[in-house]
Amino acid sequence: MVNPNINLPYFDLLFEEFGKQNPEALAAFGRHVHWGYWDYPAAADGSIADFAKAAERLSRRVCDAGNLGNGKRILDCGCGFGGTIASLNERFSDLELVGLNIDERQLERARKQVQPQNNNQIEFVQGNACELPFEDNSFDVVTAVECIFHFPSREQFFREVRRVLKPGGQLAISDFVQAEPFMPVLKFIGKFISYDVGSTYGKVDNNITLNEYRKLAKSTQLLSKIEDDITVNTLPTYPLVRRMLHQGKLKQYENVTLGAEWLSRLGIVRYVILSFQVS
Ligand SMILES: C[S@@+](CC[C@H](N)C(=O)[O-])C[C@H]1O[C@@H](n2cnc3c(N)ncnc32)[C@H](O)[C@@H]1O
Repeated sequence: MVNPNINLPYFDLLFEEFGKQNPEALAAFGRHVHWGYWDYPAAADGSIADFAKAAERLSRRVCDAGNLGNGKRILDCGCGFGGTIASLNERFSDLELVGLNIDERQLERARKQVQPQNNNQIEFVQGNACELPFEDNSFDVVTAVECIFHFPSREQFFREVRRVLKPGGQLAISDFVQAEPFMPVLKFIGKFISYDVGSTYGKVDNNITLNEYRKLAKSTQLLSKIEDDITVNTLPTYPLVRRMLHQGKLKQYENVTLGAEWLSRLGIVRYVILSFQVS
Protein backbone atom coordinates (compact mmCIF):
# COMPACT_ATOMS: atom_id res chain seq x y z
CA MET A 1 0.00 0.00 0.00
CA VAL A 2 1.22 3.52 -0.83
CA ASN A 3 1.96 5.62 2.27
CA PRO A 4 -0.04 8.87 1.81
CA ASN A 5 2.81 10.87 3.41
CA ILE A 6 5.25 9.75 0.72
CA ASN A 7 4.99 11.67 -2.53
CA LEU A 8 7.25 9.91 -5.04
CA PRO A 9 5.06 9.47 -8.15
CA TYR A 10 7.96 8.13 -10.23
CA PHE A 11 8.41 5.29 -7.76
CA ASP A 12 4.66 4.54 -7.97
CA LEU A 13 5.18 4.32 -11.73
CA LEU A 14 8.20 2.04 -11.33
CA PHE A 15 6.27 -0.32 -9.04
CA GLU A 16 3.44 -0.40 -11.59
CA GLU A 17 5.88 -1.35 -14.36
CA PHE A 18 7.75 -3.87 -12.20
CA GLY A 19 4.35 -5.42 -11.39
CA LYS A 20 3.81 -5.90 -15.13
CA GLN A 21 7.32 -7.40 -15.37
CA ASN A 22 8.30 -4.65 -17.85
CA PRO A 23 11.79 -5.88 -18.84
CA GLU A 24 13.09 -2.41 -19.77
CA ALA A 25 11.97 -0.82 -16.48
CA LEU A 26 13.47 -3.71 -14.51
CA ALA A 27 16.78 -3.63 -16.38
CA ALA A 28 17.11 0.17 -16.22
CA PHE A 29 15.86 0.84 -12.68
CA GLY A 30 15.57 -2.49 -10.87
CA ARG A 31 18.86 -1.93 -9.02
CA HIS A 32 19.80 1.77 -9.18
CA VAL A 33 17.34 4.63 -9.55
CA HIS A 34 19.69 7.41 -10.60
CA TRP A 35 21.45 8.84 -13.64
CA GLY A 36 24.32 7.13 -15.42
CA TYR A 37 28.02 8.09 -15.66
CA TRP A 38 29.89 7.69 -18.95
CA ASP A 39 33.67 8.28 -19.13
CA TYR A 40 33.18 8.98 -22.83
CA PRO A 41 29.62 10.30 -23.27
CA ALA A 42 29.97 10.17 -27.07
CA ALA A 43 30.42 6.39 -26.79
CA ALA A 44 27.04 5.84 -25.05
CA ASP A 45 25.05 3.52 -27.33
CA GLY A 46 21.54 4.36 -26.06
CA SER A 47 20.79 0.81 -24.93
CA ILE A 48 19.29 -0.09 -21.57
CA ALA A 49 22.23 -2.43 -20.88
CA ASP A 50 24.69 0.44 -21.48
CA PHE A 51 22.63 2.67 -19.16
CA ALA A 52 22.56 0.05 -16.38
CA LYS A 53 26.38 -0.18 -16.53
CA ALA A 54 26.61 3.62 -16.43
CA ALA A 55 24.30 3.77 -13.37
CA GLU A 56 26.56 1.27 -11.59
CA ARG A 57 29.58 3.45 -12.50
CA LEU A 58 27.93 6.51 -10.97
CA SER A 59 27.23 4.68 -7.72
CA ARG A 60 30.88 3.54 -7.57
CA ARG A 61 32.18 7.05 -8.18
CA VAL A 62 30.14 8.41 -5.26
CA CYS A 63 31.37 5.61 -2.99
CA ASP A 64 34.98 6.13 -4.10
CA ALA A 65 34.63 9.84 -3.20
CA GLY A 66 33.83 8.63 0.34
CA ASN A 67 37.10 6.67 0.44
CA LEU A 68 35.39 3.39 1.15
CA GLY A 69 37.22 0.19 1.97
CA ASN A 70 36.97 -3.17 3.72
CA GLY A 71 35.84 -3.40 7.33
CA LYS A 72 33.88 -0.15 7.52
CA ARG A 73 30.41 0.65 8.85
CA ILE A 74 28.51 2.47 6.11
CA LEU A 75 25.11 4.16 6.00
CA ASP A 76 23.46 4.73 2.60
CA CYS A 77 20.69 7.31 3.01
CA GLY A 78 17.79 7.30 0.53
CA CYS A 79 18.98 3.84 -0.54
CA GLY A 80 16.28 3.17 -3.16
CA PHE A 81 16.19 -0.55 -4.03
CA GLY A 82 19.57 -1.06 -2.37
CA GLY A 83 21.71 -0.70 -5.51
CA THR A 84 24.58 1.12 -3.83
CA ILE A 85 24.52 -1.33 -0.90
CA ALA A 86 24.56 -4.21 -3.43
CA SER A 87 27.53 -2.68 -5.23
CA LEU A 88 29.52 -2.24 -2.00
CA ASN A 89 28.59 -5.78 -0.95
CA GLU A 90 30.10 -7.09 -4.20
CA ARG A 91 33.25 -4.95 -4.08
CA PHE A 92 34.34 -5.07 -0.44
CA SER A 93 34.41 -7.39 2.56
CA ASP A 94 33.78 -7.26 6.32
CA LEU A 95 31.42 -4.30 5.94
CA GLU A 96 28.48 -3.38 8.12
CA LEU A 97 26.06 -1.94 5.60
CA VAL A 98 22.89 -0.06 6.54
CA GLY A 99 20.43 1.21 3.91
CA LEU A 100 17.91 3.81 5.06
CA ASN A 101 14.79 4.81 3.15
CA ILE A 102 11.59 6.67 3.94
CA ASP A 103 9.63 4.26 1.69
CA GLU A 104 9.06 0.78 3.14
CA ARG A 105 7.94 -0.57 -0.28
CA GLN A 106 11.41 0.06 -1.70
CA LEU A 107 13.03 -1.56 1.32
CA GLU A 108 10.95 -4.71 0.84
CA ARG A 109 12.39 -5.04 -2.66
CA ALA A 110 15.91 -4.23 -1.41
CA ARG A 111 15.74 -6.95 1.27
CA LYS A 112 14.78 -9.53 -1.37
CA GLN A 113 17.34 -8.34 -3.93
CA VAL A 114 20.47 -7.91 -1.83
CA GLN A 115 21.92 -10.86 0.08
CA PRO A 116 25.13 -10.43 2.10
CA GLN A 117 28.37 -11.89 0.75
CA ASN A 118 32.12 -11.43 1.44
CA ASN A 119 31.51 -11.61 5.21
CA ASN A 120 29.42 -8.41 5.03
CA GLN A 121 26.35 -7.66 7.14
CA ILE A 122 23.35 -5.84 5.66
CA GLU A 123 20.38 -4.17 7.28
CA PHE A 124 17.64 -2.07 5.65
CA VAL A 125 15.93 0.41 7.97
CA GLN A 126 12.85 2.57 7.40
CA GLY A 127 13.38 6.19 8.43
CA ASN A 128 13.85 9.82 7.52
CA ALA A 129 17.36 10.94 6.54
CA CYS A 130 16.80 14.14 8.54
CA GLU A 131 16.04 12.21 11.77
CA LEU A 132 18.55 9.36 11.65
CA PRO A 133 17.58 6.52 13.98
CA PHE A 134 21.24 5.79 14.87
CA GLU A 135 23.65 6.52 17.70
CA ASP A 136 26.22 9.33 17.68
CA ASN A 137 29.70 8.44 16.27
CA SER A 138 28.54 5.13 14.83
CA PHE A 139 29.44 5.20 11.07
CA ASP A 140 32.73 5.50 9.14
CA VAL A 141 31.03 6.68 5.95
CA VAL A 142 27.61 8.02 4.98
CA THR A 143 26.54 8.07 1.33
CA ALA A 144 23.50 9.64 -0.33
CA VAL A 145 23.21 9.05 -4.08
CA GLU A 146 20.93 11.45 -5.94
CA CYS A 147 18.35 11.85 -3.20
CA ILE A 148 19.11 14.92 -1.04
CA PHE A 149 16.81 17.13 -3.13
CA HIS A 150 13.89 15.06 -1.76
CA PHE A 151 14.86 15.44 1.91
CA PRO A 152 12.96 17.92 4.11
CA SER A 153 16.14 19.98 4.76
CA ARG A 154 19.78 19.71 3.59
CA GLU A 155 20.91 21.53 6.71
CA GLN A 156 19.15 19.09 9.05
CA PHE A 157 20.54 16.17 7.02
CA PHE A 158 24.10 17.51 7.32
CA ARG A 159 23.66 18.00 11.09
CA GLU A 160 22.41 14.44 11.47
CA VAL A 161 25.24 13.06 9.34
CA ARG A 162 27.81 14.97 11.41
CA ARG A 163 26.27 13.49 14.57
CA VAL A 164 26.38 9.85 13.41
CA LEU A 165 29.83 10.01 11.77
CA LYS A 166 32.86 8.85 13.76
CA PRO A 167 35.87 11.18 14.09
CA GLY A 168 37.51 11.36 10.63
CA GLY A 169 34.37 9.90 9.04
CA GLN A 170 33.25 10.91 5.54
CA LEU A 171 30.08 11.88 3.73
CA ALA A 172 29.82 11.33 -0.05
CA ILE A 173 26.87 12.52 -2.09
CA SER A 174 25.69 13.29 -5.59
CA ASP A 175 23.28 16.14 -6.23
CA PHE A 176 22.09 18.72 -8.75
CA VAL A 177 23.30 22.26 -7.99
CA GLN A 178 22.52 25.57 -9.63
CA ALA A 179 25.23 27.53 -11.38
CA GLU A 180 25.40 30.77 -9.36
CA PRO A 181 24.86 33.31 -12.17
CA PHE A 182 21.67 31.56 -13.29
CA MET A 183 19.87 31.48 -9.94
CA PRO A 184 17.38 34.24 -10.82
CA VAL A 185 16.61 32.51 -14.15
CA LEU A 186 15.88 29.25 -12.38
CA LYS A 187 13.73 30.92 -9.77
CA PHE A 188 11.67 32.36 -12.59
CA ILE A 189 11.42 29.05 -14.50
CA GLY A 190 10.61 27.26 -11.23
CA LYS A 191 7.31 29.10 -10.90
CA PHE A 192 6.08 27.60 -14.18
CA ILE A 193 7.32 24.04 -13.78
CA SER A 194 6.82 23.38 -10.05
CA TYR A 195 3.41 21.73 -10.54
CA ASP A 196 4.69 19.35 -13.25
CA VAL A 197 7.84 18.49 -11.29
CA GLY A 198 5.79 17.83 -8.13
CA SER A 199 3.36 15.51 -9.88
CA THR A 200 6.12 13.42 -11.50
CA TYR A 201 9.30 13.45 -9.41
CA GLY A 202 7.69 14.65 -6.16
CA LYS A 203 9.31 17.25 -3.92
CA VAL A 204 12.52 18.36 -5.62
CA ASP A 205 14.54 21.19 -4.05
CA ASN A 206 17.42 22.24 -6.32
CA ASN A 207 17.75 25.59 -4.67
CA ILE A 208 21.43 25.22 -3.78
CA THR A 209 24.79 26.20 -5.25
CA LEU A 210 28.25 24.75 -4.76
CA ASN A 211 29.15 27.74 -2.64
CA GLU A 212 26.16 27.14 -0.39
CA TYR A 213 27.27 23.51 0.02
CA ARG A 214 30.69 24.80 1.17
CA LYS A 215 28.99 27.07 3.71
CA LEU A 216 26.73 24.25 4.88
CA ALA A 217 29.76 22.00 5.40
CA LYS A 218 31.57 24.68 7.36
CA SER A 219 28.57 25.39 9.59
CA THR A 220 28.26 21.68 10.44
CA GLN A 221 32.01 21.19 11.09
CA LEU A 222 32.58 19.16 7.94
CA LEU A 223 35.54 19.75 5.65
CA SER A 224 34.87 19.91 1.89
CA LYS A 225 37.15 17.34 0.22
CA ILE A 226 36.04 16.48 -3.31
CA GLU A 227 34.01 18.60 -5.76
CA ASP A 228 33.61 16.72 -9.01
CA ASP A 229 31.40 18.28 -11.71
CA ILE A 230 30.24 15.32 -13.82
CA THR A 231 27.41 17.05 -15.70
CA VAL A 232 28.70 16.14 -19.17
CA ASN A 233 29.29 12.53 -18.11
CA THR A 234 25.62 12.13 -17.17
CA LEU A 235 24.05 13.67 -20.28
CA PRO A 236 23.41 10.41 -22.22
CA THR A 237 20.89 9.56 -19.45
CA TYR A 238 18.34 12.06 -20.73
CA PRO A 239 17.56 10.81 -24.24
CA LEU A 240 17.33 7.26 -22.91
CA VAL A 241 14.95 8.13 -20.07
CA ARG A 242 12.86 10.30 -22.39
CA ARG A 243 12.60 7.45 -24.87
CA MET A 244 11.34 5.16 -22.10
CA LEU A 245 8.78 7.80 -21.13
CA HIS A 246 7.59 8.42 -24.66
CA GLN A 247 4.12 6.96 -24.14
CA GLY A 248 0.78 8.80 -24.01
CA LYS A 249 0.11 9.01 -20.28
CA LEU A 250 3.75 9.66 -19.44
CA LYS A 251 3.98 12.83 -21.50
CA GLN A 252 4.27 14.95 -18.34
CA TYR A 253 7.31 12.92 -17.21
CA GLU A 254 8.87 13.23 -20.65
CA ASN A 255 8.42 17.03 -20.64
CA VAL A 256 9.90 17.47 -17.16
CA THR A 257 12.87 15.26 -18.10
CA LEU A 258 13.39 17.29 -21.29
CA GLY A 259 13.37 20.50 -19.22
CA ALA A 260 15.99 19.03 -16.86
CA GLU A 261 18.06 17.95 -19.86
CA TRP A 262 18.18 21.46 -21.30
CA LEU A 263 19.02 23.03 -17.94
CA SER A 264 21.96 20.59 -17.76
CA ARG A 265 23.06 20.99 -21.38
CA LEU A 266 23.06 24.79 -20.98
CA GLY A 267 25.10 24.51 -17.78
CA ILE A 268 22.39 26.12 -15.65
CA VAL A 269 22.07 23.03 -13.46
CA ARG A 270 25.20 20.99 -12.71
CA TYR A 271 25.44 17.37 -11.55
CA VAL A 272 28.12 17.08 -8.86
CA ILE A 273 29.74 14.47 -6.65
CA LEU A 274 30.84 15.96 -3.34
CA SER A 275 32.61 14.55 -0.33
CA PHE A 276 33.17 15.92 3.16
CA GLN A 277 35.12 14.80 6.21
CA VAL A 278 34.54 15.35 9.91
CA SER A 279 36.93 18.18 10.78
C1 LIG B 1 16.36 9.14 -6.99
S1 LIG B 1 16.04 7.98 -5.74
C2 LIG B 1 17.70 7.40 -5.44
C3 LIG B 1 17.70 6.05 -4.82
C4 LIG B 1 19.08 5.47 -4.57
N1 LIG B 1 19.92 6.35 -3.82
C5 LIG B 1 19.73 5.15 -5.87
O1 LIG B 1 20.65 5.88 -6.24
O2 LIG B 1 19.37 4.15 -6.51
C6 LIG B 1 15.71 8.97 -4.28
C7 LIG B 1 15.51 8.14 -3.00
O3 LIG B 1 15.38 9.00 -1.86
C8 LIG B 1 14.45 8.40 -0.97
N2 LIG B 1 13.98 9.42 -0.01
C9 LIG B 1 13.21 10.50 -0.28
N3 LIG B 1 13.01 11.24 0.84
C10 LIG B 1 13.68 10.61 1.85
C11 LIG B 1 13.88 10.88 3.23
N4 LIG B 1 13.36 11.97 3.82
N5 LIG B 1 14.61 10.02 3.96
C12 LIG B 1 15.15 8.91 3.39
N6 LIG B 1 15.01 8.60 2.08
C13 LIG B 1 14.29 9.43 1.31
C14 LIG B 1 13.39 7.88 -1.92
O4 LIG B 1 12.51 6.97 -1.32
C15 LIG B 1 14.27 7.27 -3.01
O5 LIG B 1 14.64 5.97 -2.66
